[in-house]
Amino acid sequence: MTTIESLLKEERRFEPSAAFTAAAHLSGGAAYDELYRRSLEDPESFWSERARADLLWSKPFEQVLDWRPPHARWFLGGQLNASANCLDKHLSGPRRNKAALIWEGEPGEIRTYTYLQLHREVCKAANALAALGVEKGDRVAIYMPMIPEIVVAMLACARLGAAHTVVFGGFSAEALRDRILDAQAKLVITADGGFRRGAALPLKPAVDAACEQAPCVQNVLVVRRCGNPVSWVAGRDHWWQEVVERALPVRPATAVDSEHLLFTLYTSGTTGKPKGIVHTTAGYLLYTQMTSRYVFDLKDEDVYWCTADCGWITGHSYIVYGPLQCGATVLLYEGTPNTPHPGRFWEMIGRHRVTVFYTAPTAIRTFVKWGDEHPLRFDLSSLRLLGTVGEPINPEAWMWYHRLIGKERCPIVDTWWQTETGGILISPLPGVTATKPGSATKPFFGIEPEVVNEKGEACAADHGGLLVIKRPWPGMLRTVYNDDQRYRETYFGRFPTMYFTGDGARRDKDGYFWILGRVDDVMNVSGHRLSTMEIESALVSHEAVAEAAVVGRPDALTGQAITAFVTLHSKEPKLDSMREALKAHVAKEIGAFARPAEIRFAEALPKTRSGKIMRRLLRDIAAGQQTVGDTTTLEDLSVLARLREDED
Ligand code: WT7
Repeated sequence: MTTIESLLKEERRFEPSAAFTAAAHLSGGAAYDELYRRSLEDPESFWSERARADLLWSKPFEQVLDWRPPHARWFLGGQLNASANCLDKHLSGPRRNKAALIWEGEPGEIRTYTYLQLHREVCKAANALAALGVEKGDRVAIYMPMIPEIVVAMLACARLGAAHTVVFGGFSAEALRDRILDAQAKLVITADGGFRRGAALPLKPAVDAACEQAPCVQNVLVVRRCGNPVSWVAGRDHWWQEVVERALPVRPATAVDSEHLLFTLYTSGTTGKPKGIVHTTAGYLLYTQMTSRYVFDLKDEDVYWCTADCGWITGHSYIVYGPLQCGATVLLYEGTPNTPHPGRFWEMIGRHRVTVFYTAPTAIRTFVKWGDEHPLRFDLSSLRLLGTVGEPINPEAWMWYHRLIGKERCPIVDTWWQTETGGILISPLPGVTATKPGSATKPFFGIEPEVVNEKGEACAADHGGLLVIKRPWPGMLRTVYNDDQRYRETYFGRFPTMYFTGDGARRDKDGYFWILGRVDDVMNVSGHRLSTMEIESALVSHEAVAEAAVVGRPDALTGQAITAFVTLHSKEPKLDSMREALKAHVAKEIGAFARPAEIRFAEALPKTRSGKIMRRLLRDIAAGQQTVGDTTTLEDLSVLARLREDED
């Protein structure tokens, strides 16, 4: 593949309003151009100035960057603490009694924590963890609903210099176990459950099942949230409400080196095994703080709401570390957007006077489907800025967001980034960048993206190619946990000094980037990254399955939906009940969000002579398209014909 077809032509353009520009942290294209130029011409002085000014150091750093491709280390010689940068830093001034977190439970209760109160809770939790044997350098797994304690738990780990590994509460016991084992977590923080769709969704059973096969776990700390019955392992399990409540509300933050592990977060790659993405302390903190300030234009008056779950990178960077470092007021919500009614989000925006709202395109498409009457019923006049993340936003969804939610008044920042990048790399800056619906627009300071062909040569304007980043930045991943070889191969295997994103893109004549989606075997379902291999491994672990191939097909709501082509062992009848059993099996192995939308039974799968499954052909079939591509390497052409006949 030398170029990727890009057919989308979008001509609309929205200039930032004069009023927004006048008040923004950064105003006007000239200010951006100048700062961007400086950030590339003299990156070391650019980043070191920012790091000195924006981070709270226990010991100043001596060296800005050590770049030995493919490994970067930032701010060497320095020491600091992430929780001190999110909390302690604000305690000496007027933010001390400002709301840090406003939380709404799905049943409707509201809890508010000021920076001072959050600091006390984090200190208590850190003391409780320390009493349970957690030390600097340890890993702690977090498997929790969206309640304030998840933020407290993350920051408490950071306070001790222990790394957290947050596992999204939708993952199954098996997926949780694999992550606990890879991280060798010695403690798990969880809850009895969380409220979703009006009912308590239990979490403890998955933790119990995972821990049975994870001998590294010595203690489990359980937040009582729903009051549902839980089974209990005496000596191992402890109620948060008992041990944290008892603990002292003072705990000095442990100073760690700039490159000390802050967290690992697992994400899908092209093979079956998830990768533990490694983020370290100083660079990640600086990058999330700066992007929060400039992309979301965060001010002290803002009420900022990012609807992501803390189990994903968006929650790490743009609920916890970025906004709290900026001293923002962060709204946190436990539940689903349509409980008890489809206007819940809009009602909450009115209730809390939310000013900045950040969500995913798949959510926006769902809101479009639910109907305009829901947002129209509520007061959205507090909003001043909107954001999206997770997948390309189709221009029609963008326009709906702009009209119905932003009332044609709020800039929209379409933010492109990845778990690996730590923070936003390509995005409009509100008040600076004219937006075009569907484009993530321009790079952030210090980021040098390029669209290249297979040889690594820059593509001409408006030609699709591979998106790479040509130099290191402070928020980038440092390696893959326990697997540096995989880090080298995945991100620097194609081009030794350029970070390969796995995405296709084109840059238009104005220098705007348009993301075209993944070029590898990674799918994007509702903004969640899933690898085809991961789901295939889950399918073939079922006793009836001989072989499976999984592809993403376009879906109006979820972006992509999963179609699985499955070859059963010869004696197995092809029953609908088997289809359901296989879907349930994938949900059990990975989590409900990975459940295939469609299972197609196939006599055989299309393969090359060397035995590689030709997913490209399956993608066409799944999408209901004629195969346009080259089929000359297909080993058995009749397989294709038979697959099409199997369509029902
Ligand atoms: C992949 C990263 C970053 C947090 C959420 C997902 C896709 C992300 C955009 C966007 C087009 C986007 C890319 C990327 N993606 N944001 N604004 N426009 N595509 O994190 O699970 O690490 O997935 O999501 O394909 O590679 P992730």
